[in-house]
Amino acid sequence: MTKVFSGIRPSGKLHLGNYLGAIKNWIELQNKADQAIFAVVDLHGITTPYDPKNYKEQVMDVVLDYLAAGVDPKKSLLIRQSKVPQHTELGWIFNTITPVSWLDRLPNYREKVSQVEQSGEENSKSYQNNLSILAYPVLMAADILLYKSNLVPVGDDQKQHIDLTNEIGARFNHVFGEVFPNVKAHIVQGARIMSLQDPSKKMSKTGDEGIALSDEPDVIRAKFKKATTDSGKEIKFDEKEKSGISNLLTIYSLLSGKDIKKIEADYGGKGYVEFKNDLAEVVVEFLKPFQDKRRELEKDPKHVIQILERSEEEARKLAQKTLDEVKQLMGLL
Ligand code: TYM
Repeated sequence: MTKVFSGIRPSGKLHLGNYLGAIKNWIELQNKADQAIFAVVDLHGITTPYDPKNYKEQVMDVVLDYLAAGVDPKKSLLIRQSKVPQHTELGWIFNTITPVSWLDRLPNYREKVSQVEQSGEENSKSYQNNLSILAYPVLMAADILLYKSNLVPVGDDQKQHIDLTNEIGARFNHVFGEVFPNVKAHIVQGARIMSLQDPSKKMSKTGDEGIALSDEPDVIRAKFKKATTDSGKEIKFDEKEKSGISNLLTIYSLLSGKDIKKIEADYGGKGYVEFKNDLAEVVVEFLKPFQDKRRELEKDPKHVIQILERSEEEARKLAQKTLDEVKQLMGLL
């Protein structure tokens, strides 16, 4: 049985990295899996500074992006994490068997702590090195294992969190009895899309660094014009020597379905400017149906809420089953 789970934090607009690293694969896997659950992980999103006034909207924005990108409510459950309280309950239980030393060595933890420290945001002081940044991957393990999921499509920055999920699951099985399966990360080409401005950093936000799925055609064209390329003039995939062009080739290939070798051949003797202009058109064309569908969905928020509520009810049932099993073994039931 293949059971898929994945999630995205509602912290800003979704970008091409989120799409190519995660959502694109969700859409493919939902057709093959026996169970597929995709969450907007709103409880993870509040571990770093955020704006409570806009948060509900931000969560809905991500829900709309999921649906517009092709998450199909007939094939998968689409949930807001906080609407299924079993996530936090299992998260707490996992806290009791997770040594701090498994958490404070994770690079994502250290990165987040320094990001919050450096962020000039007004309320960032209240967030400095809080417990939830440390416990973040424990809740993530609970998200996945609550549904006994065994396949998690994510970008490569999440690999260590999946390893930790397996460590926590194995420790539970060892201490209390066999409940949780082994989990595999589904990481494929596109798992690390880089910033358009600095190809040594991953695309993690929009602005000139990244393309938001909602960017207008002219904005997309302007961003590719400004994208950093490398010295030389050949369109050639070489991550070491030509990281900028290689990143652009990856985006071109994944969105057009053309092999990288074929794209290199097509652009033999042509320059960066022509390549970047054409790539901008590939992206604009690719995003058009997505953006049209999103506008349609925006007109019918009731329908979207219905999809969510139906999914969340089903998810709570699945989740409670696992949680009962866990609590029984722990002497809590
Ligand atoms: P988050 O919200 O940072 O990112 C969501 C997904 O997008 C992928 N991603 C990228 N892929 C390729 N290139 C990039 N530049 C890029 N940037 C982001 C991420 O790898 C991720 O798959 N901890 C998770 C959220 C989470 C989760 C879960 C994921 C919570 N519970 C359970 C899977 C299963 C996170 O912060 O992702």
